[in-house]
Parts: sequence; C-alpha cells; structure tokens
Amino acid sequence: MTSKTPFRTRIAGTGSYLPEKLLTNADIEKLVDTNDAWIRERTGIQHRHIAADGEFTSDLALKAAQKALEAANLTAQDLDLIIVCTVSPDQVMPSCACVLQQKIGARNIMAFDLSAACSGFVYGLATADQFIRTGMYKNVLVVGAEVLHRYVNYKDRETCILFGDGAGAVIAQRTTSETEGIMSAHLRSDGSLGDLFVLPAGGSAMPFDQSVLDRGDQYVRMKGREIFKHAVRTMSQVCQDALDANAMTIDQIDWVIPHQANLRIIDAVGSHFGIEPEKVVINVQTMGNTSAATVPVAFDQAVRDGRIKRGQHVLLTAFGAGLTSGSIMMKF
Ligand code: UT7
Repeated sequence: MTSKTPFRTRIAGTGSYLPEKLLTNADIEKLVDTNDAWIRERTGIQHRHIAADGEFTSDLALKAAQKALEAANLTAQDLDLIIVCTVSPDQVMPSCACVLQQKIGARNIMAFDLSAACSGFVYGLATADQFIRTGMYKNVLVVGAEVLHRYVNYKDRETCILFGDGAGAVIAQRTTSETEGIMSAHLRSDGSLGDLFVLPAGGSAMPFDQSVLDRGDQYVRMKGREIFKHAVRTMSQVCQDALDANAMTIDQIDWVIPHQANLRIIDAVGSHFGIEPEKVVINVQTMGNTSAATVPVAFDQAVRDGRIKRGQHVLLTAFGAGLTSGSIMMKF
C-alpha cells in the first residue's frame, strides 16, 4: 500500500558484516553424502560464513549497525528505534534488539525483534517506514541478523548445504523530500503453508527436554521442492504488486535485490518477472541463505561497490517460513 503523508523514509546509510570463518562445499562433503558439483548446480552456493564460538547474533548485528551509522553520519545517540529482524536471537528474552541497544550505546529507546523468517528485513523496513511516516520517529535502525548454523543439522544434506550466518543493516530516516525514499510496501503471509519450513522445538508447543534432542527437533526442517515452487510464485506476485501500485514498468527498475536462498529461485523469479539478469543483485554463491540478513547484506554490498546509486529505483523482495513474503519499492 502507498500512503500520502508529509513524511517519507529514505535510506541514510547501509552496513553489513559477515563472520570470517568459511564453510565450503568441500567441508560439507566430509559431513554428508553430497558433492561440490551438485551443490553448485542445484543452489549456486560455493561457501557460507559461519560465526565463531562465542559470537552471537547481536555481535553480528552490532558490527553491521555500526557501519550503517557511520555511512549515515550518525551516532547511536541519534537513534529513535531499533528493529532486529531475526529468527536466531541470542536467546528468547531479552530480545536481540534490547541486547543491541545496550551494546551499541543507544538511548533508552524502543527496541524490538521482528520474526518473519527470511522476509524479516522487508517486514522490518516496512514497519520502520510506518513509524517514520506518522512522524513518531526520525532515525530507525533496521537490522537483519542471523546465526543460523546453530539451528542446522549437519547430518541433513537437504538443509545443511544452504544456510550461513551474517548481518545487514540500514538507517531508515525521515525526509520531506518527494524525490527519494520508500514508495510502497507489499507484505503477505500464508499460514496454511507453515509446515513447509519449521523449527519445531523451543516454543510453548514443544519445550526443550531430552526427547527433543533425541529426535533432532532443535533443528530446521523443510520441504525444499515445495518451498521452491511457492518462493517463485510469491516473490513474482509481490514484485508485480509493487509495479502496479507505483504505475511503473519493469524497465524503470534499476535494481532488484531478492532474498538469496538459491540461485535457481532467483533466476526463476527474474525470468518470470521479466527483469534483465544484470539488474539483479546476487551474492548467494558466497554467503548461502542467511535468512533475514540476505537482503540488507546484498543491499550494502551493491551500495558500497558503486552498483546502486542515489536516485535509482530499487526493488527489495523476499519470501520465508510462514510462509511470508514481501516487496518494497524505493528511490534510493
Ligand atoms: O528461505 C527459505 C529456505 N528454504 C529454501 O529456500 C529451500 C528451497 N529449495 C531448494 O533450494 C531446493 O529444493 C533444494 C536445494 C533444497 C533441493 O534441490 P532440488 O533441485 O529441489 O532437489 P530435490 O529435492 O528435487 O532432490 C533431487 C535429488 C533427490 O534424489 P532422488 O530422489 O532424485 O534420487 C535428493 O535426494 O537430489 C537429492 N539430494 C541431494 N543430492 C546431493 C537432495 N539434497 C542433496 C544434496 N546432495 N545435498
């Protein structure tokens, strides 16, 4: 939906952080019955970044957030709201956002976690946009951060090839300029498809006990082929929604930043949507699927290497467990 208010949301700065340690396809070959050629051909992934022992989601979030603040020429004291989009917080409570608020040295501002799996960052930025449009807040830190590898079963070859750790952040900032900023957000969820991608244990439905560990219910589980199909369908739909809402044609888009789950999903959405492949930001090869972090990390990398320039139209899109999906159109 688009709305007409005096305020809009611009992206004042971006940042990202990937842990140093790499988990390569050759490393995974030693853990499960798979091989580098299959992983590259079916997913495009070559390696993923893995957090060190003692390195938590809030630590990754902190490093990405500090870079975003620096790029925006702000300090933590300027922040009015912190949203951390994650499904792998340091612990259930306090929230990762509260941990980050303390670590980054922000004032006693509103801070909360947002759980929408791989669509998290798109949901989070759309949420920040609402707080900004109403005039309530001026500078909002939105982070997508995950340490997913601790929820992965390295005996399950379907999932362990996919996931990695990382964090990306933006400073969403109030502006009265009509020539830049977020133009629309389209967010969806379809709970009837919730069983396609689950992390069964740790909630009120399945508290931890020995039987959880015996069954391996502390790990993510998915129906990959089904997710693949719905991912292509939903991301294509929400991208079309963004074009329709803004009365734009596809050739007016400069960059699409899709959720990085699988190179074949990205290619399928691109050709379904009819976007030129050179306009799609892709980094799944070197980071795997970092859930809520994929979109802001790809965003930051493309801003810092000069691909994305001020004034260009950028379309973010994602899908994830839930099943959730979303798109955001902006003039950067
Ligand atoms: O953010 C959302 C998170 N989840 C996703 O995005 C997952 C989306 N889905 C996918 O990325 C793909 O479905 C996978 C990469 C998970 C699987 O690729 P696929 O092309 O859909 O393979 P498939 O499930 O159709 O399996 C083809 C074959 C099967 O063998 P048979 O039954 O044909 O003999 C699998 O057992 O490939 C086998 N297989 C593997 N072989 C080698 C499955 N995983 C592997 C593996 N290495 N790691």
